[in-house]
Amino acid sequence: MLLLARWRYWMVSLQPHAIHCICDAACPGMKSQATRAEREPATTITTMHHLVTGVAGFIGFHTAQALLARGDSVVGVDNLNDYYDPALKRARLALLQRSAGFRFEQFDLADRERTARLFAAERFPRVIHLAAQAGVRYSLTNPHAYIDANVVAFTNILEGCRQNQVEHLTYASSSSVYGLNTAMPFSVHHNVDHPVSLYAATKKANELMAHCYSHLYRLPTTGLRFFTVYGPWGRPDMALFLFTKAILSGQPLTVFNHGKMRRDFTYIDDIVQGVVRTSDRIAAPDPQWNPAKPDPGTSSAPYRLYNIGNHSPVELTHFIACIEQALGRKAVLNLQPMQPGDVPATAADVADLTRDTGFTPATPIETGIARFIAWYRDYYQQ
Ligand SMILES: NC(=O)c1ccc[n+]([C@@H]2O[C@H](COP(=O)([O-])OP(=O)(O)OC[C@H]3O[C@@H](n4cnc5c(N)ncnc54)[C@H](O)[C@@H]3O)[C@@H](O)[C@H]2O)c1
Repeated sequence: MLLLARWRYWMVSLQPHAIHCICDAACPGMKSQATRAEREPATTITTMHHLVTGVAGFIGFHTAQALLARGDSVVGVDNLNDYYDPALKRARLALLQRSAGFRFEQFDLADRERTARLFAAERFPRVIHLAAQAGVRYSLTNPHAYIDANVVAFTNILEGCRQNQVEHLTYASSSSVYGLNTAMPFSVHHNVDHPVSLYAATKKANELMAHCYSHLYRLPTTGLRFFTVYGPWGRPDMALFLFTKAILSGQPLTVFNHGKMRRDFTYIDDIVQGVVRTSDRIAAPDPQWNPAKPDPGTSSAPYRLYNIGNHSPVELTHFIACIEQALGRKAVLNLQPMQPGDVPATAADVADLTRDTGFTPATPIETGIARFIAWYRDYYQQ
């Protein structure tokens, strides 16, 4: 009984990947189990321990929040770089740090020794790798940032997983890998060997590197190709943020390809649902995989790729109309030609993800934009 008297410790059990939290009434977020523990003999509650990289970023923050809300523990890593305002990253972190199950480490994942030390110390069962140098346009002017963050750091993540028998690595890829492809909707079963930006090339490289580790070391890996994610706490370099800021300050919106763009905008809560469900379902070899006709989306190794998008693309002009509606102000448009490295349309075939995890994006663009604008006005007091 003495053992139940206080919050004790996170204990890695003899089963290498299960983590058990033994707790009592003082255990944060576990009140109902703790109460039962007081009534009954020792109760062991199984939770999951995760590494979430890029945790101060847009998707990493929301993903960590969802894991913590269901009682899991999270170690978050981020280097808090200044690609966009680090104050926004710190504000996201401050919210996460309210949870007892969260611990933050600030360092660069391109640091091989530091990354190896963290993996060896924590023995994570699950890794959700979202840290990256994001953005297509920035890769035209800062190519080396993409090699350091997306290739060197990804190698360190793969090695950490391999050396410490991680159960499942889920990592961020991008719809950008579809490059010159025009067959819509984009499918993970299509060949994607024609990227049009270095950003896309590094994401495709991640998929290839993951396959090697899945094949050679039987490391289960799942790559998620995100399609234009938006929502509260979003990224300041992305269209919704830039357009909102411009309209509120009376500046014209720079609209590429003269507004003839379609994007499969995906609301953050839908994305998080897909990320968590994917991480929970460990990638397995595909018994039907045929090396004579290799399907790019699966493998004889424990390797999976999924699109994660809303699968209903929106015209950029409608997107802007929704922002105008939510703000109650009209936009002034500065129409520009297509940007190098950009693509005119994206649309995701998400049938595999829906079949395997029950992923069902449910947020209409009008609702998602209204929620973003409400957050933006509150956060920036405008
Ligand atoms: N948001 C989207 O629409 C979208 C679309 C496609 C793919 N993705 C991918 O999803 C992932 C998350 O994107 P996001 O929108 O949250 O971006 P984000 O920039 O908000 O988050 C990435 C975080 O990673 C951190 N980071 C970068 N390099 C690092 C390094 N070397 N070591 C430690 N931390 C580092 C950054 O400081 C940042 O906080 C990225 O891999 C991105 O490429 C996002």
